[in-house]
Amino acid sequence: MPQENKSKKLEELKARMAGDESLPLQEANFVFGEGSAQSEVMFIGEAPGASEDKLGRPFVGRAGKLLDKLIDSIGWKREDIYISNIVKRRPPENRDPFPEELEAYRPYLTEEIETLNPKIIAPLGRYSMNYILPLAKISNDHGRVFWWGERLVIPLYHPAAALRATNVLRALEIDFHKLKLLPGKYDEFLAERRVKQKANPAEHKDKIEQIQKTVKELL
Ligand code: URA
Repeated sequence: MPQENKSKKLEELKARMAGDESLPLQEANFVFGEGSAQSEVMFIGEAPGASEDKLGRPFVGRAGKLLDKLIDSIGWKREDIYISNIVKRRPPENRDPFPEELEAYRPYLTEEIETLNPKIIAPLGRYSMNYILPLAKISNDHGRVFWWGERLVIPLYHPAAALRATNVLRALEIDFHKLKLLPGKYDEFLAERRVKQKANPAEHKDKIEQIQKTVKELL
């Protein structure tokens, strides 16, 4: 889809969501995804915090500043990628979103993903990871790469968790260097996958499949 069409569709989705009063957390401000509609990479967080609620933009508080630094550390620019959240309004006191809130926002996130059509999704933290990989555990599966349909998914620790623990920060820095390699590898991996699928459709019928474990294997 050409850039203008995608941007237009994302704007339409944003307006539709903003006007949907059936969505929970109506007392908070609406914070939609932002970034380039051309991006091949989509980051998905959990829900806006206080700074995001105030400014109406995702990841602009302390966790957002760390996210900016990590994006910068791999030579990317924030404005060239796309950043969103599952839940688009701030839960009170920054509590974790309730299951019914996640459920209510889920179909809109699906639409946002389908409209942007990214090749690579980096869920930030367990909520967005479990939206895609329901059985995954962040401590075990961060930095691993999975196929989800024809998208590559690399779960990452949430930057807020990295602000609280140095070992998590270190793991997140390493996983970002792995993420950096994925756009360049996407076509090759997809071609390999299609060959394997053709040869043995039964074995590849599951849409979620882990493909790589270590940075070394990616290089
Ligand atoms: N944490 C999130 O998950 N999302 C934001 O936008 C900010 C903090």
